[in-house]
Amino acid sequence: MHTMLKPVSPSSLKIFRTVVQWRDFRRTLPPDQPLAFVPTMGALHEGHGSLVKLAGEIAGGGGHVCTSIFVNPTQFGPGEDFARYPRPFATDVELLTQWGAQSLFAPEPEEMYPRSGPAVTVDPGPYGAVLEGASRPGHFRGVCTVVAKLLHIIAPTHLLLGQKDFQQQFILKKMMADLNMPVQVITAPTLREADGLAMSSRNRYLSANERPRAAAIYAALSQAATGIRSGSRSAEAVAWQLQKTITAAGLTVDYAAAYDPTTLEPYVQEITNPCVLLAAARLGSTRLIDNVIV
Ligand code: PAF
Repeated sequence: MHTMLKPVSPSSLKIFRTVVQWRDFRRTLPPDQPLAFVPTMGALHEGHGSLVKLAGEIAGGGGHVCTSIFVNPTQFGPGEDFARYPRPFATDVELLTQWGAQSLFAPEPEEMYPRSGPAVTVDPGPYGAVLEGASRPGHFRGVCTVVAKLLHIIAPTHLLLGQKDFQQQFILKKMMADLNMPVQVITAPTLREADGLAMSSRNRYLSANERPRAAAIYAALSQAATGIRSGSRSAEAVAWQLQKTITAAGLTVDYAAAYDPTTLEPYVQEITNPCVLLAAARLGSTRLIDNVIV
């Protein structure tokens, strides 16, 4: 897909490596215009592209679209993929330019965490301990801390997040409401490959043999959503069917069930409105997550 890119002038994307450099530039932007911000860890795909393009619509003619690339060490647990997380910086810069981003904040870890790690961090509360947080202890503390830092540095008016990381956007919205952060959060729909697999930077870990099987998660979620919409309301039956379908494709299910999207509580008996189906499963060494709002 990247080979289809038109050549671009790298000078059309301003790259900032330090907080001081960015803040000097931020002061030159009109204070009364939107600044739409898309934080990423790089290894960009069309899902990020849709967020950057939406940011462009929000910024309009007079505003600004800022992105960041920072593989945040504090949100990876011991034994997770921090060291091998892909870092194709030159390709990412090319893509961001194509998508219309105007600036990129891309600090080194020492710039974000000068004294190795922060002594003061943001507690994600009880929502950080369930689902992804149960499998990845400390993950959402790391996410909340780095996003709080990025918001203080970039000072955007709008923050764009993907729906694929449902729990992440849920917790970050709570953080911003509870800590009175004056930023409007926009959650954009998940982009999918032709077979339904949610686009993710981690999909590039999948082997040729694993890749077709990864689509089983979305197939199971869509099938369950259709069933719920046509009246299947048993939470137990939905969870059982989801787990059976995903397992049959050779994945190891971490969780797959119906949840209340306003509380992240699982439905235990009858599924009522509202409902989100959340799933996480492992395929080889790759952990995949996805969701469908019913
Ligand atoms: O979703 C991500 O890419 C990361 O969790 C984020 C929000 C950029 C924080 O590091």
